[in-house]
Amino acid sequence: MNNIEKLIKEIPKAELHCHIEGTLEPELMFQLAQRNKIKLPFANPEEVRRAYEFSNLQTFLDIYYQGANVLRTEQDFYDLTWSYLLRAKEDNICHTEIFFDPQTHTERDVAFETVIDGITRALTDAKNKLNISSNLILCFLRHLSEEEAFKTLKQALPFKDKITAVGLDSGEKGNPPEKFKNVFEAARAEGFLTVAHAGEEGPADYIWQALDLLEVRRIDHGVRCTEDEALVNLLKEKQIPLTVCPLSNIKLRVFKTMHEHNIKKLLERGLCVTINSDDAAYFGGYVVDNFMACYQALNLTRDDIIQLAKNSIQASFLDDAQKSAYLQKINEVVEKG
Ligand code: ADE
Ligand code: ZN
Repeated sequence: MNNIEKLIKEIPKAELHCHIEGTLEPELMFQLAQRNKIKLPFANPEEVRRAYEFSNLQTFLDIYYQGANVLRTEQDFYDLTWSYLLRAKEDNICHTEIFFDPQTHTERDVAFETVIDGITRALTDAKNKLNISSNLILCFLRHLSEEEAFKTLKQALPFKDKITAVGLDSGEKGNPPEKFKNVFEAARAEGFLTVAHAGEEGPADYIWQALDLLEVRRIDHGVRCTEDEALVNLLKEKQIPLTVCPLSNIKLRVFKTMHEHNIKKLLERGLCVTINSDDAAYFGGYVVDNFMACYQALNLTRDDIIQLAKNSIQASFLDDAQKSAYLQKINEVVEKG
């Protein structure tokens, strides 16, 4: 391991774009299937991994929603989240802001409460046993209606103290942010912060809509912002963070190769970009793997790595005192190395 690789691993980092259902490793999928007496259409975990070849976002989502079917009980959601947190600890993730998709589960008659109780029990354990802090973000599935999203928002209200923000994920094309303008307004009125996936497969205009109509604090992905110079200038000026997921972008063919990825250019232009895993079990890597892939293909420098780690803290929903404490820890690791 060279010095930069060591720094990538050791520097404290926040992860801001991780779908907890996307951390379901094939081994755990088999364990949960057995526990819940569910028959999987695969013989073993290796066969599952071989099936993970995607040509775009939708081909991935079809397999991803099928995988989530093994999640049934509070313990299942706990085990899923705890496995992710143990893995995050290895990468020196000090803070994580996790997405969950309640509609994927409530549609299968798993209670909202079952999902949130399992996830939050693991997050509490992570704070106490692993020293990882967290926030939880509820995502509405954008291929469903706004009416369905309103139902989900209503289900979330009794658990308001456990959920920091609402977001928007699933198939982007044909499901613009404007479709969810009213439900996001209602969520903001209830005190939730907002984020949205935009400019992953969808056009730059969807990023404008997310900013103007949903009043998001960050854009998830957002890599297609470069198609609109005025938008790039605004993102820079206002330091609106982009939670970029490099390995995901390659697996889902947003860019052909990592050499063509625009994250280094965005960083050099002064945008607040961060590196995240998206759906690590499906895209072949956690946060450090994503950093390594960018470092190798794009020649990230030591200063780039430090900036990306600091951006991840700045872009989080932590308060200023918590951000200062983590930035201080980053400086300590940097000065030591
Ligand atoms: N759900 C899980 N991963 C996603 C992604 N990358 N884009 C949209 N929806 C998702
Ligand atoms: Zn995502």
